[in-house]
Amino acid sequence: MTQLDQNPTAPRRAASASTRADAVVAPRLAPVPPDRPRRRYAVLGTGHRAGMYVGAITGPHRDVAEVVAWCDTNPGRIAFYDAEVGAALGLDGPAGLPTYGPDDLERMVERERVDVVVVTTPDHLHAEHVARAQAAGADVVLEKPAATDAEGCRALARSVTGTGRDLVMTFNYRYSPRNSTLREVIASGEIGRPTSVHFEWVLDTVHGADYFRRWHRERERSGGLGVHKSSHHVDLVNWWLDDVPERVFASGGLRFYGRENADARGLGPRPERGTGADGDPWALDLRADRRLRGLYLDAEQHDGYLRDRDVFAPGITIDDNLALVVDYRGGATMTYSLNAHCPWEGYTVAVNGTEGRAELTVVERGAVAVDAEGRVVLDPSATPGAAPVAPSRPEGERLVVQRHWEGSREVPIPRGEGGHGGGDALLLIDVFRRDLRLDPDPLRRAAGYEDGLRAAAVGIAANASLRTGRPVTIGELGLGLPT
Ligand SMILES: NC(=O)c1ccc[n+]([C@@H]2O[C@H](COP(=O)([O-])OP(=O)(O)OC[C@H]3O[C@@H](n4cnc5c(N)ncnc54)[C@H](O)[C@@H]3O)[C@@H](O)[C@H]2O)c1
Repeated sequence: MTQLDQNPTAPRRAASASTRADAVVAPRLAPVPPDRPRRRYAVLGTGHRAGMYVGAITGPHRDVAEVVAWCDTNPGRIAFYDAEVGAALGLDGPAGLPTYGPDDLERMVERERVDVVVVTTPDHLHAEHVARAQAAGADVVLEKPAATDAEGCRALARSVTGTGRDLVMTFNYRYSPRNSTLREVIASGEIGRPTSVHFEWVLDTVHGADYFRRWHRERERSGGLGVHKSSHHVDLVNWWLDDVPERVFASGGLRFYGRENADARGLGPRPERGTGADGDPWALDLRADRRLRGLYLDAEQHDGYLRDRDVFAPGITIDDNLALVVDYRGGATMTYSLNAHCPWEGYTVAVNGTEGRAELTVVERGAVAVDAEGRVVLDPSATPGAAPVAPSRPEGERLVVQRHWEGSREVPIPRGEGGHGGGDALLLIDVFRRDLRLDPDPLRRAAGYEDGLRAAAVGIAANASLRTGRPVTIGELGLGLPT
């Protein structure tokens, strides 16, 4: 299968060879015991994200895992994956795996003897789907965010503690070598005890816009970007500092996308959807990408799910600019900002400590490429002549550490193959072979339900803060987190 690990609108990184065979790059693994049966996986939610797991199970992890069933509301998307699995297994046609609707989740777990359910449904369904899969007797691999509201957090915590079933939160950003290296630096004590973090994440007008095309644009279903997107970033900070967020103040709003903003800027009439809207740089044309066409355009007839709605349409209930102040139990404060309509994409994080400061700067896409017809180019590397001109902002990453009274030093960042600088491949090793690790992970990258709840908690508290205009203490929300 092709690279499945990223949203097609996300910046694509060039692969590079590993430079250091240390814990950040590759763990040492025991061989698979010859008599051990493969674990039986079912995929619940067969949208784009499911592809990373399906590709791993039918590819590098096929000796320890097998897909045994699909569960989704849309038979078109199930058929897409069933055909991909058939091809990956070298069959003449589709794999013909059993398919179930969401009402039959429990029956699927029992009948197909499912060991693990991979949950890749829309965010607001995660807690319910985890609880039902675990009650039926399965472990769960869960995409972020853990939940979108307080009730979901409580239900998820009850399910894990009540059933004793395993839940792996797949926080893939932890595994990006640059982020792992920053954790190593902080844990080494080189910058002392962290006192504050300044974290800015900018999403560009291709990837950032994508959160305004479908269900993510509704706070009810995604929790807003503070939950849906920032839970990745908050998890990083929780993990970098090895600390727990306690209080959140949020300010933000919808200031760029949406009908009102378009009217205020005089954008004029807009197409309802991107497919066929030639020459519009805001349009996502589902015909331009084989997977987008197969998973969404060709599957619309079953449920009317439009993947490419106009980002300036009415009905958007999330923010595109968000600022947070987050206080941590250990005494550090994070100032954080997220912007979803930037001309380039990447992030800067600075950690101040009692002994010095660490700064990580990442440019994932220096500029957005537009082709001769005015269409955004999703993958400039596949379109000759379409590479954007951004000489002053080259793609790359830089980690600089400076201790008091000393000069600065640049810390080398190991790189691996594939998405997120090789991070996705490392995550998948932990998802499918964690029990075969010969050494514990010194970086403690594998995340569980508490990590998931602590990351979502900040966005949920931010939503309360946005509503009330006041700081919100996470403890008062009663999210089911251990104290
Ligand atoms: N970690 C990452 O970097 C990353 C990247 C992308 C997506 N994600 C997460 O993965 C999840 C899926 O994202 P996506 O982009 O594939 O979304 P998607 O909308 O493309 O896919 C979701 C799938 O769930 C199905 N579905 C909807 N309601 C259902 C129900 N009640 N029962 C069963 N199936 C149902 C839909 O038909 C669809 O096939 C989201 O939670 C998202 O946050 C994580």
